[in-house]
Amino acid sequence: MEKCTSTDAYFMEEVSPGHLQKKPLRASDAPFTIEDLEASGCLAYKVDMSGAWEKAVEKYSEDVGMKNRDVVKINPTSMPNYEEKLAIFFEEHLHTDPEVRFIMEGSGYFDIRDVKDRWVRIPVAKGDLLFLPAGIYHRFTTDEQDSIVAMRFFKDAPRWEAFNRRDEGTEKMEERVDYIKGVKAN
Ligand code: LAC
Ligand code: NI
Repeated sequence: MEKCTSTDAYFMEEVSPGHLQKKPLRASDAPFTIEDLEASGCLAYKVDMSGAWEKAVEKYSEDVGMKNRDVVKINPTSMPNYEEKLAIFFEEHLHTDPEVRFIMEGSGYFDIRDVKDRWVRIPVAKGDLLFLPAGIYHRFTTDEQDSIVAMRFFKDAPRWEAFNRRDEGTEKMEERVDYIKGVKAN
């Protein structure tokens, strides 16, 4: 498993949730580098899936404190209430745990807020592993292929819990305050 030395991430256009969210929505050619990504606390890795990838991914997840995992298939036929679920995933949110995702099949977009609160789109595909720190605002969508299979890691029991930015109290959560402090210290 290799840490990425570059990124395909880019500044994205503002978009209201809906069908347009699956388009690339590149806003400009202004560079967004791997250093910029890491300044926001995010880490990106490539996993060679021709080898013993499962062991590598498992070891990494344990090293970052994750004890459990599940596999989620996000496509219109495998996922009950697909559009509803996708709308929930695309709502700007944070978690109290880091978000660690390994892409097993397909592709999609993780959108994060950078250190200046700008939307940055991170395209992901098979073999990508992404670490987003607890407290960072982000969201997810499939792309126009409408299909992704991801391994998700959890500190405790596999339970997906998100706190939406628009909800009162989220901004004052301990994990959010700690995240902001960590980013400023860098
Ligand atoms: C997640 C994506 C939707 O939390 O951010 O799995
Ligand atoms: Ni999330």
